Amino acid sequence: MQKKTKKSPSNLAAYKKVMKIINNSGLNENLIFNQDCIEGAKKYIADESVNLIICDPPFGIKESTFGSQYARDSGNILAGYKEAPPEYSKFSYDWMEQCKRTLKKNGSMYIVSGFTNLAHILNAIKALDLKLVNHLIWKYNFGVYTTRKYVTAHYHLLYITKQKAKPTFNNTCRFNLSQKDNKGGSLLDQDMESVWDIPREFHKNTIKNLNKLPAALIQKMIQYSSNEGDLVCDFFLGNFTTAFAAKSLGRKFSGFEINPAAYNYFIEQYNEAEFGDRLFNSEEDIRIKNWKILQDQLFT
Ligand SMILES: C[S@@+](CC[C@H](N)C(=O)[O-])C[C@H]1O[C@@H](n2cnc3c(N)ncnc32)[C@H](O)[C@@H]1O
Repeated sequence: MQKKTKKSPSNLAAYKKVMKIINNSGLNENLIFNQDCIEGAKKYIADESVNLIICDPPFGIKESTFGSQYARDSGNILAGYKEAPPEYSKFSYDWMEQCKRTLKKNGSMYIVSGFTNLAHILNAIKALDLKLVNHLIWKYNFGVYTTRKYVTAHYHLLYITKQKAKPTFNNTCRFNLSQKDNKGGSLLDQDMESVWDIPREFHKNTIKNLNKLPAALIQKMIQYSSNEGDLVCDFFLGNFTTAFAAKSLGRKFSGFEINPAAYNYFIEQYNEAEFGDRLFNSEEDIRIKNWKILQDQLFT
């Protein structure tokens, strides 16, 4: 297990300077940096300033070599995806230590993990004395086909707070008590279950960074665990999924992506995105959208 290290000094002066420039230029939602998240957080994110952190780090499984399994046309994948360093345990501890430092006392955090290095993330949660509130499962479609073992079709979503926190948890933000499905089941109860069945997005002829999470998955985290005007942060932006969802939902946003190709490609789109863009009202919306794209591919 990783030893506790000395608390990193927060560079409040640098943070204030950046905030001043950004506020003066009217870009106060646009605190997104093309750099290493650990160094960047130390430099730009003040202690206890973030309401919600969502992180989907590289999984440490050489996933950048899996291009053809993850996308139909690997020509559409942006180059430069940065893998995790070999010492996954130290890497996890170091970036999660910055999350703990920057998270408000009553903030919350979600970490996405595969199972290969999940133990290291769980160890870091313990070593940093964070509280694992829920161990959620994201059940997805299109698992990679296997014949000699079961098909993996889930990721782990760890919902974490500080100890003794009273985090924002908007339990009726998506459904109210009276909303039922067509069999009479409560939509609210289903939405709050620990297994989230959300389809992967299916993109045709679209340039992307590897391993995009569905916007609907991130949207759900943001809706339950933050309010309009709150600051949301993602240390591993990839396709900027969290950034787009946060902006659409009227949250402030800050984050990091080390890969210049991904950063440059998505920052422009992010700057043009607006409140209310790209939101999903239900998981059914994504199924319908995916089905339409599939029909196009098969029949045109
Ligand atoms: C699993 S992907 C994130 C995908 C993202 N959630 C999405 O929906 O598109 C991880 C990303 O972290 C980036 N990355 C890896 N190490 C990093 C670091 N130290 N600092 C910032 N970004 C990093 C990778 O280049 C990659 O784009």
